[in-house]
Amino acid sequence: MNEVTPVVASGPASGPASAIAVVDDHGAQVQRMFGRIAHGYDRANRVMSLGIDVRWRRRAVADLLSHVPASRTAVGLDLCAGTLDSTIAIHERFPTARLVAGDFVAPMLEAGRTKLVGAAGERIETRVMDAHALPLGDGECDAIFCAFGIRNLSDLARATAEQARVLRPGGKLVVLDFFRPHRLTTKIVHAVYNRGVLPWVGWAVTGDREAYQYLPRSIGKFDSTDEYAARLEAAGFVDVSAESLTFGIASIVRATRGPT
Ligand SMILES: C[S@@+](CC[C@H](N)C(=O)[O-])C[C@H]1O[C@@H](n2cnc3c(N)ncnc32)[C@H](O)[C@@H]1O
Repeated sequence: MNEVTPVVASGPASGPASAIAVVDDHGAQVQRMFGRIAHGYDRANRVMSLGIDVRWRRRAVADLLSHVPASRTAVGLDLCAGTLDSTIAIHERFPTARLVAGDFVAPMLEAGRTKLVGAAGERIETRVMDAHALPLGDGECDAIFCAFGIRNLSDLARATAEQARVLRPGGKLVVLDFFRPHRLTTKIVHAVYNRGVLPWVGWAVTGDREAYQYLPRSIGKFDSTDEYAARLEAAGFVDVSAESLTFGIASIVRATRGPT
């Protein structure tokens, strides 16, 4: 799916201050890009989505950890967590869960940490990590959430295998993203808004037009929901389903980690 060379990162990083061992050229470009726009990322998001992303996130996280018995503390990973908007939404929905927010751009996580108040600061741990080599043990997580993250990865097959590894059998994977559209109306919306409007709004808010030209390019190269569902099934996930949001602009894909 992604045309770049495979990631060669290994040697999981841990702790907020640690750096990622090695990422490939595409990963390094993505890291630099999000490092540049971290300061204005939240503002740009709100303006560009007119706040709809907040609703999408809430809907996507609604059942994320509902399967975990109340007798133990649920463990969730927000992967490609960026500035923690989704992590905070998960915390608000499941306040007793222990949450790890992982991202390979430290300034994004640092911008997010400033938003943590009260119990959120105790329940949410931020960790610099590469999605291709998760610094977590086998079966350590009850759920993984990823919003607008996997589209950026260099080797989605490898990252998917990592997600299957760190999820316990029966664990949930929920992905919210802009999948490659297949409906004509959605294609038109993507073409007009993402290619025409969005780079200029992104430039006005962050001063970085290039980063916001990358978004439509990355959507064009990404899986459709059907392709992604097939990928998950091949990696051992079951009960894979997709829900389309706001005329198919974004979708939520939900899956359960199979027994093996
Ligand atoms: C579009 S932002 C989404 C952030 C957040 N999930 C949200 O919904 O606002 C994508 C994030 O994915 C992160 N990312 C991209 N590739 C990554 C990788 N290989 N490992 C970890 N994080 C990655 C970027 O640093 C960035 O913060």
